[in-house]
Amino acid sequence: MAVQTVAVLSLKGGVGKTTVALGLASAALRRGIKTLVIDLDPQGNATATLDPQPAQFGLAEVLTTPRPPILSQAVSRSAWDESVHVLTGNHDLEELNEGPDEGTLPNLARAIAWYADPNTGPRYDLILLDCPPSLGRLTRSALLAATGALLVTEPTLYAVSGAQRAFAAIERTRKEHNPGLRPLGVVVNKFRSRSHEHMYRIAELRESFGPLVMPVALPDRLAVQQAAGSCTPIHEWSTPGGREIALAFNLVLARMLRSSRRGRHHLDPPEADEAEATNGPDQAANGSGAATQAQPPRANKPRRPDEPQPVRR
Ligand SMILES: Nc1ncnc2c1ncn2[C@@H]1O[C@H](COP(=O)(O)OP(=O)(O)OP(=O)(O)O)[C@@H](O)[C@H]1O
Ligand SMILES: [Mg+2]
Repeated sequence: MAVQTVAVLSLKGGVGKTTVALGLASAALRRGIKTLVIDLDPQGNATATLDPQPAQFGLAEVLTTPRPPILSQAVSRSAWDESVHVLTGNHDLEELNEGPDEGTLPNLARAIAWYADPNTGPRYDLILLDCPPSLGRLTRSALLAATGALLVTEPTLYAVSGAQRAFAAIERTRKEHNPGLRPLGVVVNKFRSRSHEHMYRIAELRESFGPLVMPVALPDRLAVQQAAGSCTPIHEWSTPGGREIALAFNLVLARMLRSSRRGRHHLDPPEADEAEATNGPDQAANGSGAATQAQPPRANKPRRPDEPQPVRR
C-alpha cells in the first residue's frame, strides 16, 4: 500500500486528537500496518503513552535540521511493538510553533519524504501526525506534509463552527500549497448515547458535513484513560469498554484508509462490518451509514423557534 500521511487535528484542546491518533496506531498494529507516530504537540502526550526507547534526536531537531544524519537517529520503536515507531515531541517544540515562518514550514514534509522512501527510511505504511490544539506553525506544517486530514470533535456546542474553521484551513492549504491534501472525515469523540444533547449535536454536524462525519462515533469510556495511563494499546485493554472503543477504532481506520486510497473527496458506503456496528444501540447518532459522496460543508443553519431545544447538562 502507498504511504498514507494523516494529520489528526482540531482547533480545540482536549477533544481527543491524541486519543484518536493512538487508537488508530493501535488498530493499525492489529492489522500489521507499519506505523510512525509523529508527536507535534509540545505537551508530548502521545510520546508519553507510546513510551519509546530513547533516540538521539526528537521532532524539534528534525524540524530545524531535516538532514539524514539527524533523521536517521530521530525515530525509535515504541514500547507497544516494533512495528509502531515514534518521532518524539517535547517542550522544545513550543518556540517552533510561533513567530515568523523563516521558510522552515516545509521541513516536516521533507523529513516525511525521507522516512517514507524505502531507499532511505524504514518505509512505513501509515504516518500519523498528532497535532497541537491550534492552527500555529506546527499544525500548518502537518497540513503541508499530509496526504489526508482527520478532524476530531466532541458532540458539543460550537462543534460545527470549529469543524468549519478547520475545514477552511485544510481547503486553504490544499489550494495554496498541497494539492494532494484530502479531508478524510470528522470523527466524533466522547459520545454518550443517552445524551440528547450529543444526539442533537451529531445531527447538526451531519447536516453541515454530510457523510464526511464518520458513521461510527467513539464512545466516552474510562478504558481510554486507563490504557493511555498504562502505556498500552487500547486493543490490549480487555474490558468491555476497551473492546467497544477498539472496535470503533478499527472501523475509523478502515474507512480512513479506503477514503484516503480513493484519492478524491469521497467517503465510501460502509462495508459489512461497519453497517453492523452502526446498527448497534448508537444507531440514531451514528446515522444510517449510507454515506455516498462528500458534500462541501453547509453553512450552520440557525435553529427554528419551533424546533425542540437540546437538553443542556
Ligand atoms: N473516548 C474517550 N473516552 C474517555 N476519555 C477520553 C476519550 N477521548 C479522550 N479522552 C480523555 O480526554 C482527555 C483529552 O484527550 P486527548 O489528550 O486525546 O485530547 P487532545 O485533543 O489530544 O488534547 P490536546 O488538545 O491537549 O492535545 C484525556 O484525558 C483522554 O484520556
Ligand atoms: Mg493531544
